[in-house]
Amino acid sequence: MNVSRRILVTSALPYANGSIHLGHLVEYLFTDIWVRYLKMRGHDAHYFCADDTHGTPVMIRARQEGIEPEQLIERVSEEHQRDFAAFGIEFDQYHSTHSPENRKWAEFIYQALKDKQHLERRDVEQTYCENDGIFLPDRLVRGTCPRCGAAEQYGDSCEVCSATYETTDLKEPKCSICGTPPVRRSTEHIYVRLADFTDLLRDWTREHLAPEIANSVGSWIKDGLRDWDISRDGPYFGFPIPDEENKYFYVWLDAPIGYIAACDRWCQQNGREVDEFWRDENTEIVHVIGKDIVYFHTLFWPAMLHAAGLNLPSAVHVHGFLRIEGEKMSKSRGTFINAATYLQHLDPQYLRYYYAAKLSAGSDDIDLAFEEFVNRVNAELVNKLANLYSRNLKFIGSRLEGRLGRVSGEGQALVAQAVDAAEEIAAAYERRDLAAAVFKVCQLAEQGNLFLQQAEPWKVAKTEPETARDICTAIANLGLILAIYLKPVLPEMVAKIERMMKVDPLGWQDIDRLVENQEIGEFERLAERIDRKQLDSLVAAAQQEFAGASPEPDLPAHTPLADECSIDDFTKVDLRVAQILTANEVEGADKLLALKLDLGPLGERQVFAGIREAYPDSQSLVGKKVICVANLKPRKMRFGLSEGMVCASGGPKEASDRQVRVIGADPEAQPGDRVS
Ligand code: MSP
Ligand code: ZN
Repeated sequence: MNVSRRILVTSALPYANGSIHLGHLVEYLFTDIWVRYLKMRGHDAHYFCADDTHGTPVMIRARQEGIEPEQLIERVSEEHQRDFAAFGIEFDQYHSTHSPENRKWAEFIYQALKDKQHLERRDVEQTYCENDGIFLPDRLVRGTCPRCGAAEQYGDSCEVCSATYETTDLKEPKCSICGTPPVRRSTEHIYVRLADFTDLLRDWTREHLAPEIANSVGSWIKDGLRDWDISRDGPYFGFPIPDEENKYFYVWLDAPIGYIAACDRWCQQNGREVDEFWRDENTEIVHVIGKDIVYFHTLFWPAMLHAAGLNLPSAVHVHGFLRIEGEKMSKSRGTFINAATYLQHLDPQYLRYYYAAKLSAGSDDIDLAFEEFVNRVNAELVNKLANLYSRNLKFIGSRLEGRLGRVSGEGQALVAQAVDAAEEIAAAYERRDLAAAVFKVCQLAEQGNLFLQQAEPWKVAKTEPETARDICTAIANLGLILAIYLKPVLPEMVAKIERMMKVDPLGWQDIDRLVENQEIGEFERLAERIDRKQLDSLVAAAQQEFAGASPEPDLPAHTPLADECSIDDFTKVDLRVAQILTANEVEGADKLLALKLDLGPLGERQVFAGIREAYPDSQSLVGKKVICVANLKPRKMRFGLSEGMVCASGGPKEASDRQVRVIGADPEAQPGDRVS
């Protein structure tokens, strides 16, 4: 018996200062699939999200673009929503933290914290840039690590020795925006005394988190909870704190409140009450987040909700991080892939399928491995699943007058087996193990294909068309059941199946309803095989998108450090002097030049280099001696094979017209000479 539950589900709110990339999509696709399942089960389930709009980075980016932050967040919100829609991600409400609802709820929760005396004021010394006129957050201060002396480290931690410190400890600090040395300035901040909530949080984390997450949160609690700084001095893009002068809520205070704000907006538009969700204890609240923001969602957030007398989350589901080809996403390798770039090369349903097939309930990282991606799309999505429909329905259309018969004989057992799997598949979805659900569906599809192979309706049809019709009808009904199971993952493909089978939109209750003795519709193509080349051109495009950009990927603090390169690794790189024979522009790639290089005894090479902007007259390069990585594995790009790499360097990172120019070799050197 399936009792209807009221369930509010959220994904973390993406920052309004960047594009949606394939890493984000792990989270939004996962949540979308799960909520679609809940809705199919008839639950009162809702998927709420919003853009996370406040904070210094948004303010600075708007300044750099010469626009108001409001204009920036408006534009980014449109981009985000366009990308999400293209991947079939359907929110009940996609809102913004810069909204009247969010302001109202932020003030309400703040007032509750204040009334219950959980707040404290304290003077702190902070880093301030007099030139830009702002207090600098940790990430915007660079300097020398006070522990190991490494230069160019962030204001909160050293990537070389992993020391963590305050920005004020940094030696020779510089403002990352303008490069001038900041000053120290004393200012008063408002803090939440998190330790007041220790007992509550200890109990809550034990009951509502996966064991591995509860463990690490438990150890933070045991170490003692530190006060949380929730105010920032202006200028700051955020909500002013009531009854304070020039103080704003820190972005992370109002960010999770955006979950309530989105719900509030939806309630206003749909005649429902926010209290049903945030004050009625029968509601389940599930937040889906990545590993990097656990602290905010399992300590700060429940404490805020508790202080305000609102429902605490029933679960915080933590998924793993996306890696591509086994490594963190990298702009220079072309694996930092934006959603919009992916869409120019591949069908979004492939990614929906692949992620679902890989995402189980735990928080292990998931790897997008290109070879595996191609194989699973072709072998599973196309061969096992899509084929089951296309072979069968095409045959019914062309040889059996497009009409179904009955499910009879052995076909009954085949269909019954699929019906019996309903509970197992539902249980997998319930525990948010998408991989297990997809695996089971593939198994059933395989049995269907086997059945079809053995029953050979194409032969039977010659002498006993009605028997053939029944065989095909069994497969068609198996297909319908599998379509129900798959609908959360592949809604678009299933919509086509519904049209082809001339049935109403499928719901879970249709699992044991047979479709017999009726006409079927026009055949529609479901999924095409893919070729490795499509991924290669995606990578080339992603690489080109960031060519000439800062070589350091702009990744958040949590990403692992860049891998170290040992001297042994380095000596593997074969650097040679090369002379440029020809240099030509590449059509359709405004950053690239195609170079033909002479490497002396090593022969000639073709290399694509992202240096076009610096050489309006590409012919000026001809004859120049440059340094080439001669043993780089050749890479197929959209424009041809690239058989090496030319060393080049750019102007200052900050310069907007930064151009990348080749590094010249000694003019006396001969092509093919080693460079060391
Ligand atoms: N704005 C905050 C969240 C506020 S929630 C009240 C934020 N934004 S984010 O854009 O950086 O990330 C949004 C979500 O995407 C986070 O849950 C984050 O963990 C997830 N991911 C971002 N990069 C990711 C991968 N590479 N892989 C998997 N998930 C990733 O954090
Ligand atoms: Zn500055």
